[in-house]
Amino acid sequence: MAVIGIGGRPFVDLSFLADDATLDALDVEITYALARLETRYTGGSHRALGIVPPGWDDTRPDYGEVLATLDDLQFALFASLGDPANPVLDRSQRIGEDGDVPLTFAQMRWLELAHGVYFPWKVYLELTHTSGRWGEKSEPAPFTRDALLHLPRTVRFVRALPFAHIGSVKLLGLMPGDDGTVHRDGLPKDQRAPDAFITFAPGRPKRLFVQDDAGERTVAPSRMYWFNDHDWHGVLPDPWFRYSIRVDGVFDPAFAAEIAP
Ligand SMILES: [Fe+2]
Repeated sequence: MAVIGIGGRPFVDLSFLADDATLDALDVEITYALARLETRYTGGSHRALGIVPPGWDDTRPDYGEVLATLDDLQFALFASLGDPANPVLDRSQRIGEDGDVPLTFAQMRWLELAHGVYFPWKVYLELTHTSGRWGEKSEPAPFTRDALLHLPRTVRFVRALPFAHIGSVKLLGLMPGDDGTVHRDGLPKDQRAPDAFITFAPGRPKRLFVQDDAGERTVAPSRMYWFNDHDWHGVLPDPWFRYSIRVDGVFDPAFAAEIAP
């Protein structure tokens, strides 16, 4: 099957929203802030979540699978690195992304160091206060104190984007050589309309791609775009750090009409 895309197009190029100089200036602010702020990992369990393409042959350890096979001692070590305010109590809990108990950064690091789990996005920062539930990413969300203090220019830029309201804003960064594992954010059969969001990549080139069922890939056309996240998508490896910021929300109606297929 071809990509669903946005009205059949794999990407909607939104580079008319910001010129290179604007994005370059944001990159100065963002990379300086990232050097100072605490960031986390994300990803690392796409296979266990069942959101990878059929026949996907990536054998790198997935934390959902690793957690299911830990012996009691190893599980106790894992649990001891949890958050006392929201502890891991037993194996029946859904742990990690979109689960009952989020992973702490110490647990992520332990899964990586002790069990070789591959976390594709090793620089992850949420710029808004959100529930963390994927299904609530378009709900109105205020910026975090860190975002307001360390990323004022970026916050101003995001606020000026053509949204009726802004939901979750998150920064997804990959270390040199890492790739973003191919996955999709939802099942096409469950989607009535493409989720509204804008992605922009202020720093070095980041090659996000969408992939059809035959494995044919189309790389994002510019530094600012929209795509259908219910299509398979991933990020090609490159020998440098790169990142993008994804802004979810509800599009301004005039903008939605302007870019509608
Ligand atoms: Fe995704």
